[in-house]
Amino acid sequence: MTALNGQRCLASTSRQLILSVAVALGLLCRHSVALSLSNAGQDVWGGDKLFNRWREVLSARVGKGEPAPSVFEQAFTATYTSNDPGEVQRTLEQYALLVRWLESTPHPNATHLALVPEFGDANALAIASAAVSLSKQSSKDAAGMVQALSSISDKLSAATPWRGYAATRRALVGALLKRRIDFGGRFPAEVQSAVDGIMLKLFQLHKNSSANRGAVQFFHVSKSGGTNLCQAAEANGCATQGFDTRTNCLIRDFIDQPRWVTYNAHKYVQYRMSSRQALPWFVNFHTFRPVISCEQRRAYLLQNNFTFYANEYTNPPGANVSSEMCEDFVNLIMFRHPYERLRSQIGWVQKLYKEFYLDVDTQRAFINRTTGFWERLMPAGVNNYYIRSLLGQRFFEFPVMQVAPEHIGLAQLASLQHDILLILESKTRNELAMRVGLGWSQALRDGAVRSSTELGDAVALPLDYDTMLERNLPDVEVYAFAREMQALDTLLWNFVVIADEQLGFDNLSSEQCGYVSMGSAKAVEERAERLSGVTVPVMALRPNAAAAAAAAAAAGEVPPSSISGTEVVDEEEEDEGESKGEKGADGNTGGESAAGKSSSMGVLRGGVVSKGGRGSSIISISRHRRSRRVLAWR
Ligand SMILES: *[C@@H]1O[C@H](CO)[C@@H](O)[C@H](O)[C@H]1NC(C)=O
Ligand SMILES: *[C@@H]1O[C@H](CO)[C@@H](O)[C@H](O)[C@H]1NC(C)=O
Ligand SMILES: *[C@@H]1O[C@H](CO)[C@@H](O)[C@H](O)[C@H]1NC(C)=O
Ligand SMILES: *[C@@H]1O[C@H](CO)[C@@H](O)[C@H](O)[C@H]1NC(C)=O
Ligand SMILES: *[C@@H]1O[C@H](CO)[C@@H](O)[C@H](O)[C@H]1NC(C)=O
Ligand SMILES: *[C@@H]1O[C@H](CO)[C@@H](O)[C@H](O)[C@H]1NC(C)=O
Repeated sequence: MTALNGQRCLASTSRQLILSVAVALGLLCRHSVALSLSNAGQDVWGGDKLFNRWREVLSARVGKGEPAPSVFEQAFTATYTSNDPGEVQRTLEQYALLVRWLESTPHPNATHLALVPEFGDANALAIASAAVSLSKQSSKDAAGMVQALSSISDKLSAATPWRGYAATRRALVGALLKRRIDFGGRFPAEVQSAVDGIMLKLFQLHKNSSANRGAVQFFHVSKSGGTNLCQAAEANGCATQGFDTRTNCLIRDFIDQPRWVTYNAHKYVQYRMSSRQALPWFVNFHTFRPVISCEQRRAYLLQNNFTFYANEYTNPPGANVSSEMCEDFVNLIMFRHPYERLRSQIGWVQKLYKEFYLDVDTQRAFINRTTGFWERLMPAGVNNYYIRSLLGQRFFEFPVMQVAPEHIGLAQLASLQHDILLILESKTRNELAMRVGLGWSQALRDGAVRSSTELGDAVALPLDYDTMLERNLPDVEVYAFAREMQALDTLLWNFVVIADEQLGFDNLSSEQCGYVSMGSAKAVEERAERLSGVTVPVMALRPNAAAAAAAAAAAGEVPPSSISGTEVVDEEEEDEGESKGEKGADGNTGGESAAGKSSSMGVLRGGVVSKGGRGSSIISISRHRRSRRVLAWR
């Protein structure tokens, strides 16, 4: 096999190919020999096959005197399909932000590195920096470009196969796009094959590292279509704790459910609604979450053989930082236009109140309100929720903290570190990202996004809704950036699809959650070895978590009842609570009965071990079983 590869390399180079093809072949041959030596059939995704096939196609064409195919050019055309000349420009404008950041930050600080850990790797940073230089080359310098790409290609070969380099990848693809526009048309042949070689390498790195990492972490920003995505994960054979709409791919022990309504603002609203004393579960802003590090999370998934989970709050804090990206996972995020998300968020909380206080016209409490009211009620939910979520718990929790321009940049950085970017509005691109980026064969289903239209009544928006929209402009900037970064990804995914059509790769998808289940035996072993020393925290943490939560409550930081108020009752508890609670139509009893059940299990909820009995106020949120199921966590 190796010998054959070698022969073909020689055979084709001996044909005195034009420089371009020689460069590409040089790259590819060297690589494919290395591949077949080290992997001999182990590499399930068939990196060697891919390169061999690629080389065959190139040499066959050259043998017939045909030009090498330009897959990049075709991918470019497939990505920028609209007749809108501004389409590419929009991508380049957002890409320019990344270039500017890279230029002005040769030495990222601890905050940056927590958000984009891949830049802690000198090689990745060097590639990104080379990409910036490339993007600035003079307009039609073909020789300079080929040289730059050859050096970048060598650096890519040295990249660790355990990281996807999503940020570096976009820096590079953006530079290629920029150069393509500079050339004013299709690249000259020698540039073309060098470009194609880089694209192939980027994809290989992405796919192999996905297989090596072995699990997807979905950063679920509420009201952005996350439930739909969890369903898609199930359809694609991922494994997690629960795909039902209550669990919604969250891991119970991580307590990553989103934090919504503040205690004080709720009291104010409740006063106008009813004398009912129990605290709704969604009054949970500021509730405690024990620190479960990235490593512990990864080890937890490994021990349970899970390949997928969602985090609907923030990333865990790192050593000295408020939030740390978990680079041992394939990171996935879905954005939605912040204004649409906002409307959905506001309608949704009104719906929750309506369901909770069935006997009251709760809508009255929300009509003719101002933005200020909403910001007190849901400090994070209605004010730059993407930025707050992406920058971590400390930022999330402090409503008074102003979102400054520097925070926009930091949140954009955090979005960059996600291997896969989905944008609710970009259906076709999402489908491609899931199929080619994750190796999933099942796309998102239509119409599964739950929205406030379920409310029935018209959603009461703040009187000064324009003010609220304006205050969320920083989030819109993050969204605009992420959307164009997805466009760059699309260029790569399209490249792979077109190369696949021409070269006939193996079927990209697997039925077990895509690439993450495709790690070689050696990689799987290495991963298990690395995580074997990590103590999975759950059992050990429970007493501490309870103590910490109790201490916080005692110190008055958190209203005690709201701790258990974050309770997300599971199916059994709910059923139990239902049967007993139904009798107590005064609304108080339901809570205690549910608590009683959870006590028997001694489960950790909202940061405390529920001891049950009096004082615990886990409550049912409505007397309608069906709707309640759907409501929890939503
Ligand atoms: C890193 O730089 C950013 C500005 O880009 C700043 O907001 C942040 O506080 C800095 N972090 C540290 C640890 O110096
Ligand atoms: C995970 O998979 C391994 C190997 O298939 C098996 O031995 C183990 O029992 C599984 N663990 C769980 C929690 O299912
Ligand atoms: C955290 O900060 C301490 C003290 O400033 C420092 O010694 C330590 O190296 C830092 N840890 C990391 C991971 O940056
Ligand atoms: C809201 O304000 C409008 C106009 O000021 C008024 O007509 C309406 O009655 C108010 N609605 C409520 C429920 O207060
Ligand atoms: C690829 O594999 C997926 C899942 O195994 C399957 O659903 C799909 O039909 C396959 N596609 C082709 C073209 O074989
Ligand atoms: C894929 O990753 C594994 C890491 O276990 C590495 O040994 C192998 O060389 C990588 N394959 C490619 C094609 O990069």
